[in-house]
Amino acid sequence: MHRDNKVKPLYLMTKRLDLSHNWLPMPFIVFEGLDGSGKSSLMDRLERFLKNQNKVVHRTREPGGTNLGDEIRYLILKNEGTPPCSRAELLLYEASRAQHVDEFIKPRLEKKEWVLSDRFAASSIAFQAGGRAISENDVQALNQFATGGLQPDLTILLDIPVEKALERRERREKTTGVQADRIEKEAFDFHERVRQSFLKQAQADKSRWIVLNAEKTLEQLMLELTYELKEKGWASF
Ligand code: TMP
Repeated sequence: MHRDNKVKPLYLMTKRLDLSHNWLPMPFIVFEGLDGSGKSSLMDRLERFLKNQNKVVHRTREPGGTNLGDEIRYLILKNEGTPPCSRAELLLYEASRAQHVDEFIKPRLEKKEWVLSDRFAASSIAFQAGGRAISENDVQALNQFATGGLQPDLTILLDIPVEKALERRERREKTTGVQADRIEKEAFDFHERVRQSFLKQAQADKSRWIVLNAEKTLEQLMLELTYELKEKGWASF
């Protein structure tokens, strides 16, 4: 028989099944960026937009998203006591992530519901490989282990210069009284390495990442974002 006449296995015929979480039918969207880049405000707006389109949308975050994850979040970000060494810090983020994937994210995607997450595995590449200078291969291997291969369908990077992000955080501290956490208190250079790592990751995977200029207004950002979702066939106007 001619090779082309052979019936292809179904997994080769369906584009959707090329995705890493190949059997999962709904968009898993992740927001990344420096602290102070405005992820929460844009996520609020997108959540409202999608709910107005009658989508079932779940909002979550890392570290966190589960009871165990929230306890781990407290351990990682608290300012008191001896800070974890870099490897312990990475493993804590990965433990939170593994629980998050199994307990929260996958069950919802399986039910055909949307999941919007404030940070995911790319943050470990940016902060622990970029910021802390742990080997990127090691971080990637642990990400793979924690996620079981689950990848976001789209990652939205809110890019902002470090000095602007710092200004916004200082303003937030003054108005809300909420103190910077252990990671936010890192030096300027640390945050610059984090920013560059995010940009490099976005550049390397243009079909799954979009970079938005976080200095634009929320209205402009929403316009650009909803345009992208429409292009992907995930939303209408
Ligand atoms: P958040 O303030 O955006 O909720 O994130 C908590 C902090 O944890 C933030 O400074 C980024 C950092 N972080 C890492 O260093 N590695 C990770 O894998 C994740 C998810 C977050």
